[in-house]
Amino acid sequence: MTIPMVDLKGQYETLKTEIDAAIIQALGETRYILGPNVQAFEKECAEYLNVKHALGCANGTDALHLGLLAAGIKPGDEVITTAFTFIATAEAVRYVGATPVFVDILPDSLNIDPDAIRSAITDKTRAIIPVHLFGQAADMDEIVAIAEEYNLAIVEDCAQSVGSSYKGRKTGTFGIAGTFSFFPSKNLGCYGDGGMVTTNSDAAADTVRIYRNHGSSKQYHHDVIGFNSRLDELQAVILRIKLKYIDEYNSNRLRVAQTYNRLLEGSRFETPAIPDDRDHIFHQYTLLCDGRDAVRESVLSKDISCAIYYPVPLHQQKAFTGTEQATLPVTEEVSLRCLSFPVFPEMSESQVETVCEAILSA
Ligand SMILES: Cc1ncc(COP(=O)(O)O)c(C=O)c1O
Repeated sequence: MTIPMVDLKGQYETLKTEIDAAIIQALGETRYILGPNVQAFEKECAEYLNVKHALGCANGTDALHLGLLAAGIKPGDEVITTAFTFIATAEAVRYVGATPVFVDILPDSLNIDPDAIRSAITDKTRAIIPVHLFGQAADMDEIVAIAEEYNLAIVEDCAQSVGSSYKGRKTGTFGIAGTFSFFPSKNLGCYGDGGMVTTNSDAAADTVRIYRNHGSSKQYHHDVIGFNSRLDELQAVILRIKLKYIDEYNSNRLRVAQTYNRLLEGSRFETPAIPDDRDHIFHQYTLLCDGRDAVRESVLSKDISCAIYYPVPLHQQKAFTGTEQATLPVTEEVSLRCLSFPVFPEMSESQVETVCEAILSA
């Protein structure tokens, strides 16, 4: 593709000298598991997000699993979340034996609808997982108010929202846990798998620390059956370097999105809103349009990437058959009309123009 969804190679070229030197140094230090770079990255990330604890783990899916364990979610509990997300959000609910209860999204932000959360609460509800989808914070004032009223835990899925904020406060700092993914294509991506859990609770941090390392608080003493889910030292080396540039990367993403919005204004394509009270970091630039599949084919035929996030909402996935599900009209419509286009910090204005020409001529 002449214009890819993300340009990992281009970004690596700009960081190559720094990353290669730091990796060689870490290789020589030989502290490969929970070594000094993981510890330093955890500290730097906690400072960046303004949260008490940041704990590395193997990937964003494990981060969700660990976050739900830290929130005390157990078999038989219900967890309210969105169906318009990657499957990991709800897979993790199943891992702890709980039931995901899918509710609808808002048509403008595509994030979970607070009124729908309220309507779905039962006496088994124990938690809410808002997903800050495509880099835009969910309606946290309303979600926090509901959680306080009904005594529910909030586990924020921040896999797509590193550095995005809501009314000046970073996502991943509102609930008992924030969970992050450092999958390579994420806005803070490493060169393999990586994840992190954030929390302001000492007890939750202890739970994550123990579970991520074989249930062990002291070497060869195991309090619970945990897992091997540690952030890799070499990935932490890369993440420490990229973290220094995250604000620059995010503002470039916003620049790209603003250019798309300007060039597509007045067209038949519904462009994403850029709200004033939150910093959208545009992990994805997603349009809504009729005839989506034909637009996709036409754009791809011009050697320009585009992708459907997400074509099948989770309540319609085979994996969740058997879960009692309502219909989710907004989610279902959006999944038929959404199409995402390339966004990466290094993307030039002329590349955005080329994509827009392809979109408009589709
Ligand atoms: C919203 C969301 N949640 C969770 C995950 C899972 O992250 P990982 O792939 O690191 O396990 C992803 C990543 O794809 C995601 O986009």
